[in-house]
Order: sequence, then structure tokens, then C-alpha cells
Amino acid sequence: MKTILNIIFAALGLIFHSFSQTPLAIPPVLFGNEINLNLQTGTVQFLPGAGTSTMGANGNLLGPTIILDRYQDVTMNVTNSLGEPTTIHWHGMHVAPENDGGPHTVIMPGETWSPSWNVLDWASTHWYHPHLHHMTNAHVQKGIAGMIIVRDAEEQALTLPRTYGVDDFPIVVQTKAFDINNQIIIESALDVNLMVNGTIDPFLDAPAQMVRLRLLNGSSERYYNFGFSNSLSFQMIGSDGGLLTAPLTMNRIMLAPGERAEIVVNLSALEGQTVFLRSFGSELPNAIYGAAQPGMGGGQVIPDYTSNPLNGNDFNVLQINVQAPTANPVTSISSALTTHSPWPEASANATRNLLFQPVNQGPTAIQGPFTINGAEFDMDVINYEVPFENIEVWVLTNQTPISHPFHIHDVSFYILDINGNPPPAHLQGRKDVVHVPAGNGVVRFITKFDDYFSDEHPYMYHCHMLTHEDGGMMGQFLVMPPCLLEITQEPADVITPENTTVQFSVEIGGPDQTYQWQTNLGFGFVDLSNAGQYS
Ligand code: C2O
Ligand code: CU
Ligand code: CU
Repeated sequence: MKTILNIIFAALGLIFHSFSQTPLAIPPVLFGNEINLNLQTGTVQFLPGAGTSTMGANGNLLGPTIILDRYQDVTMNVTNSLGEPTTIHWHGMHVAPENDGGPHTVIMPGETWSPSWNVLDWASTHWYHPHLHHMTNAHVQKGIAGMIIVRDAEEQALTLPRTYGVDDFPIVVQTKAFDINNQIIIESALDVNLMVNGTIDPFLDAPAQMVRLRLLNGSSERYYNFGFSNSLSFQMIGSDGGLLTAPLTMNRIMLAPGERAEIVVNLSALEGQTVFLRSFGSELPNAIYGAAQPGMGGGQVIPDYTSNPLNGNDFNVLQINVQAPTANPVTSISSALTTHSPWPEASANATRNLLFQPVNQGPTAIQGPFTINGAEFDMDVINYEVPFENIEVWVLTNQTPISHPFHIHDVSFYILDINGNPPPAHLQGRKDVVHVPAGNGVVRFITKFDDYFSDEHPYMYHCHMLTHEDGGMMGQFLVMPPCLLEITQEPADVITPENTTVQFSVEIGGPDQTYQWQTNLGFGFVDLSNAGQYS
């Protein structure tokens, strides 16, 4: 049966390739100190026949690419015109918890949410998407997602392609399932419709020179194993949290949902030719969503999974027609990109163990739900209180028969090891999503919880397969203010750089102790031997 369906789908693919190619949509850019996003509903003509009901930011589908400079101030004005509640999360960005857009920061219909902050991220590729509990997958599937590009002086000084839409392209890869009325099915393993930047069967005219692709896996569940036709190799220059130390020559890069990779492909010798960005799904090991089998062994089932021709097969993602080079093409790229100094493991103040388990046993275990440390997500339960500025090792153990991409908000991390082995070179940069292999796979990472602490807003950690996340494979943590036990204070006063006075009151008269506090302005000390007001 599968073979017959594959043949049918392959034949359809051929027909689409010959007759219905569409130029790749390149999202418009927004930059500056005020970014206005209007979340709206719309209709898109994805397929012949009925239009599809969608959601987008400033349009019917997806959203503009937001370009920010490190250390600039930005205010994001997010207006919710969807007619239902949602949130917007800045995935990968290091922001204060109240600006993070997690499930607690709901934007009600008709409201505008306007978080402001100073951009602390290095040059990197991030993205934004809704994060309302139980509704993340629906709102992303309906179409809300956009890319964020952060620039910085270090990256600007390198020789790299960086002209947006000319030699530097956003590549947001997603799959969707449509019903017979052409409407999006939120949860279905028949996600046979692949799209890049919302374009089905896209082609890109690219110049015959070094071209940078910012790959984002914006799919709800599917992993991709990217590479090119004609055995064309590429150089990977960045991962989730920015540049690698040096370009890495590669043939394949696997991206789990939520992960990003910046790659540079040399098209110089290919003018007049066509190459394809492809996903080599046949090479994915089993127990990864996208492989021939989604679980370990054939006994684990997801309905309709094996009749989807994308699973376990190789397929085209983007056709690239190589055109004449631009006037001043980049023909070689810098050989050194940045430096990384991961925290030594010995500097860690704490180790946390996170155990992934299936709720159901037997052949349906891979369908979820899944728990982390035995619990499904509860909006009212804080799972961890992380001391401000703690350096921590998180140990992720996957006791389920399917792989999960683990994501953490607030910080990016360095992978210490995967199943006891040091990470391969392409996973040695800053990461915020990591693939945790099925069947007792263990990933350890190290990070530091610096710059921001919580008032009442927690940060999230979760599986980035959105069905798993919505199903409860998520937890939340507070980064504790340095003096919380004895002092109540307004963190907003503490972290405002203009504010030279920190105001707080001591709730109890303590023994003769000195507490330290820290702001952007430096350190201060308070003697708590007497209760009272201090400033
Ligand atoms: Cu991309 Cu918590 O999400
Ligand atoms: Cu995130
Ligand atoms: Cu998962």
C-alpha cells in the first residue's frame, strides 16, 4: 500500500514540478526601535479550489522578518486582531521573563502588548511564534511565525553574504496537512504539503556566488536532513545562537523543529544550472519524526504516518536557479568567525535531571502525551527556582521510544555531551534546541542564568514538537532575584539602567547578615541586621 501511495505522490510531485512552480516568497523586513506586528486572520490560495483560512502577522501568512542590532532598544507592539487570545514568544532571544511572551503573557483579542528591551543577543537567527498553552500548534500551523535576524559589529566585520533577499535568504521550512476543503488540519501525520516561507513548490533565482541560507525548521513535528542535489556541499557558519568558531564544510545538516542553521553555499561555478535544497529523509535513523519509522522498531505506530511519502524518503525543498552574479559578489568567506568559551563543567553550581517518559505504554507510546519528571505541564506549578547567575548542568534523559527536541527559554547553552560523547563540531556553538535521541538518549548541557530574573513571570522549557508541547511536555522556572528570601523588591526598579536608586523593604529583621544585590549599574550591599526601609 505504501509503495502505491508513494508512486502516486511521486507522480503528483513531478506534475507540480513541471507546471506549478512559484517564486519563493521573501518576507518583507521590519527594523528600527518600534516594531509593529498585527496578528490577523486571512485566506491563502495554497491549492486549486477553495482558499485556506490562515493566520499571519501583518499579512495572511507568516510574518515580516525583524532585523535588530545588538544593543539597540526595541519596542514590539503586538496587536491581536485574531478574535481569540494568543501570545508571541521571541524564540532564542535573551529577554526578561515579562518580555518573553510565554503562555502567561496572554494578549487578549483587540489588545496590544508592547514589551521593550535592549537587545543583548549576538548576531544570530531567531524566530517568533505564538505560545498560548494548548494552542501553540494551532496558531503556528495556521501560519503565525516569522524570522528574527540579529546583527552585531563582530559579524559585520566578517566577509559573509548579508544582503537580505539578494545573497542572504530566510528559509522557513514547514509542512501542513489539508482536508478535502483545503483547510489546515492542525494535527495529522498526513502533512504532505511542504512549503518554504509559505510557498508550495518554490523556486529561487539566486546569483552565482556565495549565498547564505538561514534555515529554520518551523514545522510542528517534522525533522529535516538538509543537503543539496548534485552532491554539492555547503559551509555551516551558525547554529541556533549565532556563529560557529569557523565555517564547517558539510553535506547534511539535520534540523529538529525550532532549530536554525546558517549555511553558505557556493554557487559560483553553477551559473545557468539548477540545484535543489533537499531533505534526505531516507538517511534519518528511526525514532525521529521524518524517518521511515517514527519509533524504535516497527511496533510503535502513529496513524497515517507510514502512508506519508515524506517519511523515510528524500525530497526536494527548494529549487535554486543559478543566475548571473551580482556586481560585487562575495566569492570567499572569512575562515574564522567567532570565539566560544563555554563555562567549564567544574564551575557549575547545580545539576538538574530531566527525565522524559511516555504516559502510555505499548505500541501507542510515541503518540504522547509525554511527561518531564513524571508531570505534565501545569500553569500553576513552578518546576524549578534557579538562583540568579547560577551556572547549571541540565541532564536530559529520554526514556521514550521517540526523539524529542528540547528547548529552553531565556538562555542559550553549550552541549557538554550526547550519550557520553563530545558534541560534533556543528553542535559546539550556542544552542537553544537540542535533539535528545530516543531509547535512553542522554544529553547534558551547561548554561548560565544571567542578566534577568523573574517577577512573577516564569520561563519555559519544553519539547519543540508542538503536539508534544501542547500535550504537556513542558515545564517552567523562575530565575530568583538575588535577595528574594528576605527582601521584597520591584525588579523593574532594579534592572532599569536609568534608575540609580534601588528601593526595597526588609520583611523580617534578620541576624547580622550582608546581602549583595546587583544591577546593570554595579553592586550594592545591604546590612539586614535591622529591619526597616533601605534605599
Ligand atoms: Cu519556540 Cu517555547 O518556543
Ligand atoms: Cu523559545
Ligand atoms: Cu517531544
